[in-house]
Amino acid sequence: MEKIVVNGGRMLHGEVEISSAKNSVLPIIAASILCKDKSVIENAPMLEDVYVICEVLRDLGCNVYIDKKDNKITVETHNITLKEPNMDLVRKMRASFLIMGPMVAKFGRFKLSMPGGCNIGSRPIDLHLKGLKALGAEVETGHGFVEVDAKKLIGNKIYLDFPSVGATENIMMAAVFAEGETTIENAAEEPEIWDLAMFLNSMGADIRGAGTGTIKIYGVKELHNTCYRPIYDRIEAGTYMVAAAMTHSKIKIKGVNEEHLRPVISKLQECGVIIHTLNNGIIIDGSNKTKAVDIKTMPYPGFPTDMQAQMMTLLTLASGTSIITETVFENRFMHVSELCRMGANIKIDGRVAILDGVKKLTGCEVKASDLRAGAALIIAGLCAEGTTQIGDIYHVDRGYVNIEEKLKKLGADIQRVKV
Ligand code: EPZ
Repeated sequence: MEKIVVNGGRMLHGEVEISSAKNSVLPIIAASILCKDKSVIENAPMLEDVYVICEVLRDLGCNVYIDKKDNKITVETHNITLKEPNMDLVRKMRASFLIMGPMVAKFGRFKLSMPGGCNIGSRPIDLHLKGLKALGAEVETGHGFVEVDAKKLIGNKIYLDFPSVGATENIMMAAVFAEGETTIENAAEEPEIWDLAMFLNSMGADIRGAGTGTIKIYGVKELHNTCYRPIYDRIEAGTYMVAAAMTHSKIKIKGVNEEHLRPVISKLQECGVIIHTLNNGIIIDGSNKTKAVDIKTMPYPGFPTDMQAQMMTLLTLASGTSIITETVFENRFMHVSELCRMGANIKIDGRVAILDGVKKLTGCEVKASDLRAGAALIIAGLCAEGTTQIGDIYHVDRGYVNIEEKLKKLGADIQRVKV
């Protein structure tokens, strides 16, 4: 086991490189199942979750080569078989359920373990299954498994009760070879959905409207080889933006697409953070005192739930009272108790957290409960008085490439130690 140890009080400076988006690369690797043979993903982030989904594809018979030096992942599908993947492997990561759509599209049927819930919520899959049924599949659930059988997938119109990212992705992939036209209405609009559609189209799929609330998929016969470079990780970028605001530093975030960060930029500007957008990145100047603001997490283009913990950390030291409402997941406040141990003044009432800004945070031993909460606690440690030790750091490694190295390069006093 490892933990991260941070000595607070250092200003940050310089610039940080952002990796490719984890939440693009996971569905893209799942979608590579649909390729006739070889797909290459460039600038892939070397993350635990990426290794897990690569293992799942290997378990299905794919050849998967991970080149950690060049950050390249190659998937060859000529040996893929229709088998039930190793349950322990699949259960390691919920996003493994994203292979359901491509496997049903490729083989006409698939059986997969139900994805468990996780710390932030029950994470149901009813919308995924509603979409597969609408395409003509028979869906059986029981004994902890989901079995999908579709002699033939026929295009249809599907309305999502909630703009679920995973359901939009699974349905889009399942519909790629379906006969005729499929329309997903009230689809998720996250940039990673657009990225997945562009990856599929680079192999010859015909998907239009991805990134908007209505996506159309026109069935094609097969998908050819491709080489694709995913978009940058807007949540990783937002995390470093908050780190600069928290430590009242000025840093440059390289590579990100400012459009994907609009909700985060606008909220940080409301807090008093100065932000300049350049053609190759963003300058964050956190020298002003942070003002209290209210935040309500919403599906894109609203404020992202994956940035809620990080923004909460910033607001623990803001002058005034802030109200944060988490509308996307039912249990995404586990970082609150850890922040209160560091001296924050936060009260929870259901899905609402009320923060009264305090003068300072003090370092202590805390634990990460999920990857974003872990990142938020590291940020808290950057400005807390004394030393903060963040345990269960494996959560953070699922979504952040070398977080302590990137922060050390920015001037933080931070190291990873074996426990
Ligand atoms: C994706 O999860 C992301 N994960 C999450 O990022 C992110 O927080 C989430 O989208 C929301 O943006 C990946 O992309 C791998 P959802 P996903 O389906 O697809 C309800 C991170 O930190 N829902 O949009 O599971 C569900 O209960 C992770 O990087 C249904 O009701 O999210 C939840 O309340 C955490 N029925 C809401 O939708 C369904 O069938 C959002 O879930 C599916 C979802």
